[in-house]
Amino acid sequence: MSNLSCNFSSERMDICAMQGDVRMHGKSAVLYVVAASDDSYRPANGTAVTIRPYPRKGELSMMQKIREVTIRPAATTGSTAPPRCTVTHDIPAVVFSTGGFSSNAFHAMADIFIPLYNTAREYDGRVQLVATDYDRKWASKYRHLLAALSVYPVIDFDADDAVRCFPSARVGIDSHKDLGIIPAMSRNGHTMMDFQGFLRSAYSLKRAWATPVNRSSGARPRLIMIPRGETRALTNEADVIAAAREVGFEVMTVGLEVVSDLARFSEVVNKCDVLVGVHGAGLTNFVFLPRGATVVQIIPWGELKWMSWSDYRDPLADMGLRYAEYEVTADETKLKEVYPRDHAVFTDPLSIHKQGFNMVWSIFLGQNLTLDINRFTGVMQEVYQTITIT
Ligand SMILES: *[C@@H]1O[C@H](CO)[C@@H](O)[C@H](O)[C@H]1NC(C)=O
Ligand SMILES: *[C@@H]1O[C@H](CO)[C@@H](O)[C@H](O)[C@H]1NC(C)=O
Ligand SMILES: *[C@@H]1O[C@H](CO)[C@@H](O)[C@H](O)[C@H]1NC(C)=O
Ligand SMILES: *[C@@H]1O[C@H](CO)[C@@H](O)[C@H](O)[C@H]1NC(C)=O
Ligand SMILES: *[C@@H]1O[C@H](CO)[C@@H](O)[C@H](O)[C@H]1NC(C)=O
Repeated sequence: MSNLSCNFSSERMDICAMQGDVRMHGKSAVLYVVAASDDSYRPANGTAVTIRPYPRKGELSMMQKIREVTIRPAATTGSTAPPRCTVTHDIPAVVFSTGGFSSNAFHAMADIFIPLYNTAREYDGRVQLVATDYDRKWASKYRHLLAALSVYPVIDFDADDAVRCFPSARVGIDSHKDLGIIPAMSRNGHTMMDFQGFLRSAYSLKRAWATPVNRSSGARPRLIMIPRGETRALTNEADVIAAAREVGFEVMTVGLEVVSDLARFSEVVNKCDVLVGVHGAGLTNFVFLPRGATVVQIIPWGELKWMSWSDYRDPLADMGLRYAEYEVTADETKLKEVYPRDHAVFTDPLSIHKQGFNMVWSIFLGQNLTLDINRFTGVMQEVYQTITIT
């Protein structure tokens, strides 16, 4: 007898787990649960259930683009008889989507790798990962993480014409909160510290802890500046870097091509004591910092504090990281060259928020910044004091 149980009650994700005789046909996006007993079948009595296996249910228009997977209870014989196995696996399958917002570094971690870790790590590599909305370039970028979760290559679900049989499967992945794990919700009591350990092992990173730097010995704490592309760029970046050097940091800078090469960039970040960047997905690289390191978030103009805090401040404590911030004033944004000072952009930024996220995105998240070097120096001096000793 097979069994199937689903949980649709989370605001973030839908999940089904099944055991027994599970047959998967990717091309038609169907999993058959053969001879499922009715009483263990919770979601609806005897009918098929559908899941879009990307854990951000609230984002309705994005979710529409995630491929829908059908889970169909099937009898062994008769009209609902499932297709015969063409490949038989002796390990569980985990079906998830690499579509959605996954091309964004924040979402790749928050929506895919942390939930996938929650769901698949317990199998210790003996698990078949199956990705719908599969993107080869994406999978290549994150190949180290995928390989650390499973010793088998990922199956491209949508293109797969085999009928694969598994002893068990999960469809959907466990997301608890953004860039975080709630240990009480984790089947294995995992924590974000465990996840950091997993990342260190996946990328062979050496430093688990950042220790205070001894100023008297002439040592300098190391700082990485996260580069930005077209938006939220620092127009006086060279001065910002010079100011941080003046404070006493050894400043590392890299190009965007290094940031996208995670094997290289994770190593650079792990060697640092401080990570500085303007609010944006690049800050997600703090997952590679050693514990005790500090993240400095530069918050652009436009009442972006709440968003900045929930994405890149609140997750830090569970990873043993410290936080400092620098919020720009109306004088430090290039928006002042576009909008007059009596425009709502300056007098009432929240009224722009009320017009919807697209407006916030195009105006406030589209700005460039020119930092006040004196004020920035003050913030960096405080950070320097907290992480150095004499
Ligand atoms: C279903 O999921 C919710 C939220 O993730 C959780 O609180 C609840 O305990 C789950 N229910 C079952 C029966 O596992
Ligand atoms: C589900 O089925 C598997 C094997 O078919 C069995 O070992 C397991 O105990 C069942 N679980 C439940 C909750 O019925
Ligand atoms: C069983 O399915 C029928 C038809 O879809 C539905 O009306 C009924 O409420 C279901 N019963 C339970 C217990 O879910
Ligand atoms: C810091 O370095 C100085 C000079 O090398 C040394 O005398 C001092 O003991 C060091 N302090 C600590 C706490 O290690
Ligand atoms: C912001 O700066 C970047 C990088 O210098 C540049 O490519 C972009 O055009 C600038 N955007 C605006 C709105 O000035």
